[in-house]
Amino acid sequence: MQQYIENNRDRFLNELLDLLRIPSVSADSKFKNDMLKAAEFVRDSIQKAGADKAEIYETAGHPVVYGEKIIDPKLPTVLIYGHYDVQPADPYELWNSPPFEPVIKNERIYARGACDDKGQFYMHIKALETMIATDTLACNVKIMIEGEEEIGSSNLGTFVKEYREMLKCDTILISDTSIIANDVPSIETGLRGLTYVEVEVVGANRDLHSGVYGGGVANPVNILCEMIASLKDENGHITIPGFYEKVEELTTEQRDALNAAPFDLEEYKRDLAIDDIQGEAGYSTIERTSVRPTLDVNGIWGGYIGEGAKTVLPSKANAKISMRLVPHQTDHEILELFTKHFESIAPASVKVKVMPHHGGLPYVTPTDSIEYKAAELAMEESFGKKPIPTRGGGSIPIVALFEQELGCKSILMGFGLDIDALHSPNESYGLFNYYKGIETIPLFFKHYAELKQ
Ligand code: BES
Ligand code: MN
Ligand code: MN
Repeated sequence: MQQYIENNRDRFLNELLDLLRIPSVSADSKFKNDMLKAAEFVRDSIQKAGADKAEIYETAGHPVVYGEKIIDPKLPTVLIYGHYDVQPADPYELWNSPPFEPVIKNERIYARGACDDKGQFYMHIKALETMIATDTLACNVKIMIEGEEEIGSSNLGTFVKEYREMLKCDTILISDTSIIANDVPSIETGLRGLTYVEVEVVGANRDLHSGVYGGGVANPVNILCEMIASLKDENGHITIPGFYEKVEELTTEQRDALNAAPFDLEEYKRDLAIDDIQGEAGYSTIERTSVRPTLDVNGIWGGYIGEGAKTVLPSKANAKISMRLVPHQTDHEILELFTKHFESIAPASVKVKVMPHHGGLPYVTPTDSIEYKAAELAMEESFGKKPIPTRGGGSIPIVALFEQELGCKSILMGFGLDIDALHSPNESYGLFNYYKGIETIPLFFKHYAELKQ
């Protein structure tokens, strides 16, 4: 198996580079055709890897690619999930090389999607090819690669419900998360949920002269800033009534275990070029970014932002606000609490609107399951070190839905690093991580089949 990977090393990389050349940005309709091209590329790769079936399924949004290799119905079945869509690449001017013209520099692949998630799901296709070619496949494999993860997977729920029988499996394996470091392997055992809203504050029926009316009429930009500022107190606690009601407080033991993971604060600050960190009082950085909920403005606009000064009192202000959720908060409840509170704190001088975007539930997976053990053994074998269980701060909305609809847990065996710059300019993925993934995935299948017996 190792020999097969070695013999095909360059081709495995070149194929990924071809996939990275397709600008499959799901958020921007300008790339609709490229989305289809990427889906076809993925379908053909699954076919060429030796699957019995590889097809494109239309949805109300971007298509889903699904394939399978069923070797024996009595063997356990693993469903692989990933996403071929990527985040928009802008601002383009901050990239050192064009985002959709991948280059290799310092043993890293630079391109939008290099790690999130093309580089990571493509490892599975190459691992599948390797197992089929070397006749070592120990489980049935189903593989579903979607095109709307970065925009909330809103049509995938319908797809999963409709094709529940086809997707039936014993466990789900996903590589779309990170490890602590290349010499500190880890497995994420949780994801945060998400409530994402856009808000609008409207004052007068038109932009006004800021001298003639200024001081006498509400300024929506000022008011929006005040409203947002009031959403957190001086300790960094969110002030929305009921926001923390369902939040699970961890035991001292659980907190100690989380905080035992290696974390170098000085290196963290150096990497981000910040002099200090900040966050909710009473919690460590690891906790703040994994098991605690958050509220952040993702974008804010209003008034005059052109060249020079224009003395204007804007009639409107907007912001996009996201809240990361933890067990047992739900996106619907938090949306309701936020909306009610935000409307209640608006002064009578303005009108406010809260418009929901996508959402998703938080997720946790136990570490005493067969599938977790299989992932642990696989990584221990390939990295030479037992992986540490961590809790992730990001979200993959479909994972909680898989549990509801398919009745099984997902294993988040990702191979990314914090320095991969997901969603940022100059996203990259280490060649070490790409090949390590291709090497580790077959070991997962081997251990899972053995433990399942
Ligand atoms: N792969 C990420 C999520 C992730 C990254 C989890 C690193 C853990 C570690 C995924 O593609 C992503 O970006 N998800 C979005 C969710 C969304 C747009 C609904 C997120 O977390 O913002
Ligand atoms: Mn991803
Ligand atoms: Mn992402």
